[in-house]
Amino acid sequence: MDYEILEIKPMTANIGAEIFGVDLSEPLTDPVIAELRQAITDYQVIFFRDQHIDHDGHKTLGKAFGELAIHSGVAGLADHPEIVAIHADANSKFIAGDNWHSDLTCNEIPPMGSILYLHTVPEVGGDTLFASMYAAYDALSDRMKAYLDGLYAVHDGEHVYRPITNDPDKKFPCNEHPVVRTHPVSGKKGIFVNPSYTTKIVGMRKDESDGILQMLYKHCSNPNFQVRFRWQPNSIAFWDNRCTWHLAVWDYFPQTRSGFRVTIAEDKRPA
Ligand code: SIN
Repeated sequence: MDYEILEIKPMTANIGAEIFGVDLSEPLTDPVIAELRQAITDYQVIFFRDQHIDHDGHKTLGKAFGELAIHSGVAGLADHPEIVAIHADANSKFIAGDNWHSDLTCNEIPPMGSILYLHTVPEVGGDTLFASMYAAYDALSDRMKAYLDGLYAVHDGEHVYRPITNDPDKKFPCNEHPVVRTHPVSGKKGIFVNPSYTTKIVGMRKDESDGILQMLYKHCSNPNFQVRFRWQPNSIAFWDNRCTWHLAVWDYFPQTRSGFRVTIAEDKRPA
């Protein structure tokens, strides 16, 4: 599709584009939403600069693309439960997302995507890496594609969120999803396991499953499938969680990096 409103600057051949020509704090018209939907389908993660959104504006922006999801592992803001704070500073003992993952694949229906807005970023560092699981799948041999076809894997939130919860009674989701999923919009196939949540391939011995998963994780981490986003204050990243991994680099301690994220729900289980 040709873009008539948005200006698109692709960042790599496989993933990522910077988007210009839209003010995300203003109500979005249907044609702009349609072009943004097309851009997320075409580039898997899209980036915006110099955007100024408050919490209500952030939620309105997210709702243009679907229902907002409540995070199943981390509490949202008291007055805005759909918004999760992403914050690290000199007192932080850990940060969110410094391991390759797709968001919340432990859920029965993992989210469609997320919109992250950072208002405060370190002088240097604090980039986010995104990886295309389409490119990773396409680069597999036909033999490996055939082998993975029809396999399912377990995705568990327990080991991710238990260490950071104070509630001993809280239960975290655990669900099985196909190892290769077909994207519901693009129709493309992508690898759908990740090092954060995926614990085992169903029907295999543990050592066999570990071997296959480690091979896939090494393969998917190939820089050829990645884009690296350098944040500025008031940048926004909007990623399609169904076909990407991401990783937040914590190389800026003790500086502050801060902002907010909304998560957009998906309505179909991965297929
Ligand atoms: C996340 O949602 O995993 C955090 C990403 C980031 O802070 O860059």
